[in-house]
Amino acid sequence: MNRKGDAMGAEVDYEREIQELKRNLNAVILAHYYQESEIQDVADFVGDSLALAQAAAKTKADVIVFCGVHFMAETAKILNPGKLVLLPDLKAGCSLSDRCPPAAFRAFKEKHPDHFVVSYVNSSAAVKAMSDVICTSSNAVKIVNQVPKDRRILFAPDQHLGRYVMKQTGRDMVLWPGSCIVHEIFSEKRLVQLKVQHPEAEVVAHPECEEAVLRHADYIGSTKGLLDHVLKSPKREFIVVTEAGILHQMKRGAPEKTFIPAPPDNGCSCNECPYMRLNTMEKLYRCMKDKTPELTLPADLQAAALAPLQRMLEWSQ
Ligand code: 13P
Ligand code: SF4
Repeated sequence: MNRKGDAMGAEVDYEREIQELKRNLNAVILAHYYQESEIQDVADFVGDSLALAQAAAKTKADVIVFCGVHFMAETAKILNPGKLVLLPDLKAGCSLSDRCPPAAFRAFKEKHPDHFVVSYVNSSAAVKAMSDVICTSSNAVKIVNQVPKDRRILFAPDQHLGRYVMKQTGRDMVLWPGSCIVHEIFSEKRLVQLKVQHPEAEVVAHPECEEAVLRHADYIGSTKGLLDHVLKSPKREFIVVTEAGILHQMKRGAPEKTFIPAPPDNGCSCNECPYMRLNTMEKLYRCMKDKTPELTLPADLQAAALAPLQRMLEWSQ
């Protein structure tokens, strides 16, 4: 139960109220693994970017309440132009998306006019609209492998994921120099220190981490990939190199295993995404009660961004 005082000082049982609002609105709550535990627990579906996009594409609900960041809710809206899409805090952005402004991206693209544009889903709708296909961390290798062999590739906006995909596919790609503020703080030195302290631990890392960090990983994958891996691995101890929200499902799925966040939990919350954490149970409850803030996009932009997203869904099958 998650009870808190509302603005008038009255007690609100957020969990119960949210469940009731969900029924009344015929809403579905989609949540990313980086949301706080209470939000993950009240959601109908928790997933990585690809699974959330796939869930949004096939939902029958009238209202999509998206507990994640802006680009994820945008994706849900592009795939469901007629539906009401709510995001508890519209300021929940993403450093990767913010550091790739559409005008600068257009200029970058113009310098490489013959290139096939693969954009990471962590980008604005405007950048998606300028792309040939979208990818997520879980399908990036598969998507790039399907780009015609005679085409040169421009990949944006995450240079670290791009470099990882280049290694996996053998395809040369021009990379937009973006990175995630959360994943770039994991230092190689601290990771090596942790490995020395926990020699039996398996290291699992998200491909948004720098190459020097990924070099030490036993398994690299999307949030869902990391979760599935630790649940099925025979190992008992894991160093988890991604945002700390994923630990909730890891501990739930394998309470007998030990998960060590990198960097260690020493009071610093720099392994929490400040954008994802803008969403709270109170904001979730309020946005469902008031049906605002709503995610809206200009119709022409929505239509332009749909084709590369649909191509991603087709190429992911
Ligand atoms: P996933 O698609 O792996 O969940 O990643 C989303 C993200 O924003 C990672 O920082
Ligand atoms: Fe964006 Fe990084 Fe937050 Fe993921 S963790 S939403 S890439 S800022």
